[in-house]
Amino acid sequence: MTTIQEGFGGIAVETWERLVEAARQVQSRAYVPQSNFPVGAALLTEEGGIVQGCNVENATIGATVCAERTAVGTAVAEGYRDFEALCIITDSDPPAPPCGICRQVLVEFCEELPILVVNPEGSRECMHLSELLPHAFRRGSTEV
Ligand code: THU
Repeated sequence: MTTIQEGFGGIAVETWERLVEAARQVQSRAYVPQSNFPVGAALLTEEGGIVQGCNVENATIGATVCAERTAVGTAVAEGYRDFEALCIITDSDPPAPPCGICRQVLVEFCEELPILVVNPEGSRECMHLSELLPHAFRRGSTEV
């Protein structure tokens, strides 16, 4: 298994491993009758807690919610808005990065979010939200 680069995003390796485990757990609870593609997401809050999310699909297809957005929505509802790291697990190889809509939702709360994408086979890739969504439309963008 690939080891996570020490200090990636200023997050300790043990914390990344906790996030991987949390993402793996919640992936098993994904509701995916349409795609059979379960996704698990684990967000590290500034307070040091972990908030999980999985994808929740719908017969309309369009009403599907991604794992990352489920995690963000849950975190906000629980009172957390400041995030320090995100781990996403998918069964794909290479592991899948977050979709465009999720990138936009994440950037609302955290512009420099370090992201680790993994799969059950042990493939791991590190990236920053700012490289996934450069020149993002953000809250300040509406100032005239
Ligand atoms: N999905 C996510 O949960 N996160 C992403 O960033 C990309 C896609 C889900 C949506 C759908 O349930 C399944 O993966 C296939 O697209």
